[in-house]
Amino acid sequence: MIGVFDSGLGGLTVVKELFRQLPGRGVVYLGDNARFPYGSKGRDVVRQFAVQDAEFLKAHGADAIIVACNTASALAIDAVRAAVDVPVFEVVTPAVAKAAVLTRGRVGVIGTRGTIGSGVYAEKMSDASPKTKVFSQACPLFVPLVEEGWTRRSEASSIAKTYLRPLRLRRIDTLILGCTHYPFLRSQIAAAVGPGVRLVDPARETVAEFVRFLDSEGELALKLAKEITHRFFASDKTEHFSRLAARWLGQDIILEHASLE
Ligand code: DGL
Repeated sequence: MIGVFDSGLGGLTVVKELFRQLPGRGVVYLGDNARFPYGSKGRDVVRQFAVQDAEFLKAHGADAIIVACNTASALAIDAVRAAVDVPVFEVVTPAVAKAAVLTRGRVGVIGTRGTIGSGVYAEKMSDASPKTKVFSQACPLFVPLVEEGWTRRSEASSIAKTYLRPLRLRRIDTLILGCTHYPFLRSQIAAAVGPGVRLVDPARETVAEFVRFLDSEGELALKLAKEITHRFFASDKTEHFSRLAARWLGQDIILEHASLE
């Protein structure tokens, strides 16, 4: 099975992409909503949680793991890779690679405080495209807006305008949506940064990279093709989680409890 974890619901953007780009493969998803959010926590805590999440997925049949959470990808990927002996994918590098191809020299990155504070996106961007100027902005209110299902309310558009004004003034030409939840605010973000700015969705780019990886890993690809059922776990099994997950995925799910400690 393909293991995917996130601090909560947002990583379902990766599951959606898996269903779209790689249908017919079983997914085991873990949302660590009991300890949500990761974006405002320190490095050591995020690393400890991310390792536990990966170990849980491995113990529940994951043959490969995608770290859907940008904060965990930025702060904990080496710890996760050291902890589990299956291929582990993160969302930062594929997003940066796509932005490097699209940009004419001015890239914006938005994410949680943890992701932006880590500087990982900016660092990788200047490695991939040394002449490109990178402008970063933490947007901490976006995640609760999405979690509350407030994406279509006028508050979402006005908060997006306020957060993205500095990037608009910098005349960015490409914007990385460096957080699991931001694709749900795609149209509000696009309107706030202005016309002509290309948006990069790390979930989409990461799954595309995973598909390319499988092309060269015949045995693993075959194994994954045989497992077609999905499992969804949450560390706090709530009605809210099930309802939003079903709405976002467009299908009912059976939510199971994950004990992580
Ligand atoms: N999943 C987190 C990320 O992509 C956002 C939510 C959180 O702060 O935990 O960075």
